[in-house]
Amino acid sequence: MRLLPATVTLSLTVAIAYYVYIPLPDSIQEPWRLMMLDAGFRTTMHLASLKAWLGFDHYIKSIRQSSEGFDGMMQGLDRSESEGGVMLGVKVSDITFAGVPVRVYEPPAGGEGHLRRGLMYIHGGGWALGSTKKGSYDLINRMLSDELNTVVVSVEYRLYPEVHFPVPYLDCLAAAKHFLSPEILARYAIDPERIAVAGDSAGGNLAAAVAQEISTDDTMSVKFSVQVLIYPVLQALDFNTPSYLQNQNIPILYRPLMVRFWLQYFGADVSLLPQLLANNHSSLHHSNITPELRARVDWTVLLPSKHKKNYKPLVVEKGSQGAAKEVPGLLDVRASPLLAGPEVLAKTPRAYFLTCEHDVLRDDGLMYARRLQDSGVTVTIDHYEDGFHGCFSFITWPLEFDVGKRAVRGYLDWLQNNL
Ligand SMILES: *[C@@H]1O[C@H](CO)[C@@H](O)[C@H](O)[C@H]1NC(C)=O
Repeated sequence: MRLLPATVTLSLTVAIAYYVYIPLPDSIQEPWRLMMLDAGFRTTMHLASLKAWLGFDHYIKSIRQSSEGFDGMMQGLDRSESEGGVMLGVKVSDITFAGVPVRVYEPPAGGEGHLRRGLMYIHGGGWALGSTKKGSYDLINRMLSDELNTVVVSVEYRLYPEVHFPVPYLDCLAAAKHFLSPEILARYAIDPERIAVAGDSAGGNLAAAVAQEISTDDTMSVKFSVQVLIYPVLQALDFNTPSYLQNQNIPILYRPLMVRFWLQYFGADVSLLPQLLANNHSSLHHSNITPELRARVDWTVLLPSKHKKNYKPLVVEKGSQGAAKEVPGLLDVRASPLLAGPEVLAKTPRAYFLTCEHDVLRDDGLMYARRLQDSGVTVTIDHYEDGFHGCFSFITWPLEFDVGKRAVRGYLDWLQNNL
């Protein structure tokens, strides 16, 4: 009789281990922690797909609900992270800038007579997930405000499926223009020469696009002095860069998931996904993708050989005729800042990049860094050999990674010395 439960227990253990285990490169530290995070993430995605298939809810909304439940649990564990109010002496207010909801963090010191630094933060989440109030975004912005005596404005731009491109970009741009207006800078006692725009992942995409627009807008008297791009998404023409291929099975941003985020952002049909994975949407057949545009995403030229490795470029001759037409915004620089010309890049501010070796978006960041440098912009790249996409957000127990903490520390230190 005792044998049966033992067998069942063993089978269950094996089944769970099989579900959780994924092969990971040796350079990734704390692999089991990443596997657990990945298993949680996959389960959330599967349940959301199931609920959507059963007709209960949009799958993005189910994912949001799960993450809210998780956040609530974490807040229950850590009571110091109350909503709004004051923590670390930082004053937090949820207000609107030009109609766009923002969370503003004001440091305890300064105000009377001496000016503080300013930073606009745009969170990541594939233009579909995440919030200023959630997870570590709130914590890191508070730390930054307190430690660097900086007024931080975190933008609650609208997300998919409620909206798609260009609405998230336009929300961030409107908030940025309002932030940089003389009235707001005076109200918060911010030094107009020391204002950064920063973002991670899809937020890095929006930060780069907004930085380009503000830098080239002659009506703006105050501009950003620094751009901080944390593993940014920057182009949608080539989903076969060495980093997309090398890291397609590395959690948590799998290659098809990133392509899916792009299709959703463009408001395009998600069934085009296999075409995009095959680079069929950017085949040579599409004459509107000029050689000049192709050169701006040409990793065979833009990447150092250390990252090119032995990968071969995938340039499709014919591809699928309709695919590009069915993806509106594909060549819009407001969606793909890497496609902007050198004359635009040259006007953008000093840049800090955080890139991770084990990230499908690694080469998007490295190519943009190279192109900015070629245009005369001063660039710093902090490349984490043991980093994976999203690590910047995992700095508190139980989703706590040493590389995440080092990444956040590197970000704060760079801003301390360069903003
Ligand atoms: C990509 O386009 C080619 C034609 O050039 C076609 O044969 C192939 O099936 C397409 N791939 C996908 C995944 O649709």
